[in-house]
Amino acid sequence: MSVLSRLLPRRPGAALVVEPMRRRHVAGVMEIEQVSYPKPWTASVFQTELGMAARGERVYLVARDGGQVVGYAGMMLAVDEAHVTNIAVVPTARQGGLGTRLLAELAWAAIQRGCTGLTLEVRVSNHAAQALYAAFGFEAAGIRQRYYENTEDAIVMWRHGILDDDFRALLRRLSPEAGR
Ligand SMILES: CC(C)(COP(=O)(O)OP(=O)(O)OC[C@H]1O[C@@H](n2cnc3c(N)ncnc32)[C@H](O)[C@@H]1OP(=O)(O)O)[C@@H](O)C(=O)NCCC(=O)NCCS
Repeated sequence: MSVLSRLLPRRPGAALVVEPMRRRHVAGVMEIEQVSYPKPWTASVFQTELGMAARGERVYLVARDGGQVVGYAGMMLAVDEAHVTNIAVVPTARQGGLGTRLLAELAWAAIQRGCTGLTLEVRVSNHAAQALYAAFGFEAAGIRQRYYENTEDAIVMWRHGILDDDFRALLRRLSPEAGR
C-alpha cells in the first residue's frame, strides 16, 4: 500500500474500533503523528509510553478502521488527576467526531480510575483542539510561556469535577458510543 493511500482512509464508519494501543499499532500512529505536529514524537517515545501503560501509569487508545489506525489518544495518570498527553486524528477523518470519541473514551477511563480532574496543554494557535476541549468543559487555567520549541505559549486547561453526574451526562451526549 502506498504512503498516500494509507493517509487517505475511508471515512471511519461502522467498522471503527477503539481499543488499547499496542506496539503493533505504532507504525500507523507515527504516520498520523508526523503530519499532525510541528515536533512529532518519535516511535521510541510511544514505545516508552506503552511500557508505562503496561504498568498502569498511562492509558493509550487507538481508533482503527479495519486494519488502519485513524486516530489515537493518551493520558498520564497521577493520584487523582489525568493529564492528556496526545490526541490526533488522521487529517482526512477530522471534523467527523473522532476526536470527540477519543477524548470521551479517555474521560471514561479516567472516571473509572477515580480521577477527579483532567488537564492538558494546548498551543495558543491550535483553535481546533481548543474548541474540542471547550465542548468537554475544559477551561483555561494559565499560560506556560514558550512551552513549545521555546517559542509558542501553551494554554493550560482543566476540566474539574469529572466524577459528577452532569459530566457523565455530557459524555453520553457528546459521544453515545464511548465508554462501553
Ligand atoms: C484536535 C483534533 C484531534 C480534533 O479531532 P476531530 O476528529 O477533528 O474532532 P471532532 O470532529 O470530534 O470535533 C470536535 C469539535 O472540535 C472543534 N473542531 C474540530 N476541528 C475544528 C476546526 N478545524 N476548526 C474549528 N473547530 C474545530 C469543533 O468544535 C468540533 O465540534 P463540532 O463538530 O460540533 O463543530 C484534530 O484536529 C487533530 O488531530 N489535530 C492535530 C493534532 C492536535 O493538534 N492535537 C491536539 C494537541 S493539544
